[in-house]
Amino acid sequence: MRRVAIVGTGQVAVRKQYDRGLRELGVVVVKQALGETDKRRVEALYLSNMLSDELQAQKHLAALVADEAGLAGIEAIQVRAATAAGAAALRVAHLAVASGAVDLALAVGVEKMSDQVPTAALAKALDARSEVPDGKTLLSQNALLMALYLQEYGLPPDALAPFSVNAHRNAQHNPHAMFRDRQFTAEQVAQSRLIYPPLRLLDCSPVSDGAAAVLLAPLSDAQQYTSYPVEIIASSATTDRFRMSDRPNPLRLEAAIDSTQKALRQADIKLQDVDFFELHDAFSIMACLLLEASGFAVPGQGWELAANDEIGINGSIPIATMGGLKARGHPIGATALYQSCEIVQQLTGKAGQNQLDEPRVAMLQSVGGAGTTILTHLFSGAS
Ligand code: COA
Repeated sequence: MRRVAIVGTGQVAVRKQYDRGLRELGVVVVKQALGETDKRRVEALYLSNMLSDELQAQKHLAALVADEAGLAGIEAIQVRAATAAGAAALRVAHLAVASGAVDLALAVGVEKMSDQVPTAALAKALDARSEVPDGKTLLSQNALLMALYLQEYGLPPDALAPFSVNAHRNAQHNPHAMFRDRQFTAEQVAQSRLIYPPLRLLDCSPVSDGAAAVLLAPLSDAQQYTSYPVEIIASSATTDRFRMSDRPNPLRLEAAIDSTQKALRQADIKLQDVDFFELHDAFSIMACLLLEASGFAVPGQGWELAANDEIGINGSIPIATMGGLKARGHPIGATALYQSCEIVQQLTGKAGQNQLDEPRVAMLQSVGGAGTTILTHLFSGAS
């Protein structure tokens, strides 16, 4: 397999109710990711989106965006993994370039969640036969995880509030973040509107629209495209039992444990080598469980990393460094591509006021459904 690098990035500001359509958003981020690169060199475009079938009555988005971007003729394929779609597109693009099948590939994520209330469409990530008919949604499943966690470890309802405080603090300096102007105290998070007990508004990622893209090339060619390549040093994907109710301990995210270990082995590094962690903090409880599954905290103590601000920019394991899913926003199919762009910013010293102190290795983890599918990517500032 060849070594692969990100050699271009594109992202638009996340918003609710974008005036532009999916294809226009896709074209903008494709152009940004290409920069000065001649588009005739692009051989493949892998596009991630979860909801356009239901919300925009549009399938076949990859070919549509490729055509609109002036790339008609190339391989253009849509990649899906429910709420982890963006990471799946990144993985497929990575595999295509690593295998030698493709020399220049785009991974593009586009999502417009706000055209309709998306809750029912999002719930299709769950089992349509035995979960959805009972009224289960991603909100209810994450509320259940949160309730189980608080009960199991005897914690007060506001134990996870510092996750949201950190995310909003980091979003204020990110020009692409949906919420740049809202700072919250832990008390305000704990008193925000109850959505699905014990889940409150500020424990949740918002309904959001956005698009992001990365351009991938063999590391050996990277300098042809950019002076600041970032290498993808591992890519792994795993699954757990599909339904949460079939897992012996739903608080133990087996797929995240396996995916992290696989990625670390692939990159031949240790967890301690990871300088920051862009994780799937769509709900604060998910951030907490991923920190535990990946090994940054023992079970039952993930919340303490937030309470002690170890997840902050100056902490031992910074997360959501540009606002994360709750404050940058979580336009589903685009999210892991936003995170990839932010990781490139951090690893190349371009993260502005949120810049970490010379980070070398980043971990990205994405969740499909309620812990069913996990993808982990590791990145290193390439020289
Ligand atoms: N941080 C800060 N403010 C937020 C926020 C967040 N994470 N989420 C919403 N808000 C704000 C909105 O901007 C709005 O403020 P305004 O009144 O000043 O305009 C207000 O709270 C109400 O937001 P709105 O989107 O209208 O609330 P809602 O009741 O329609 O939806 C949720 C709230 C939580 C139900 C919805 O955001 C949701 O379903 N989130 C989860 C989506 C999901 O499942 N994603 C996939 C996860 S993997």
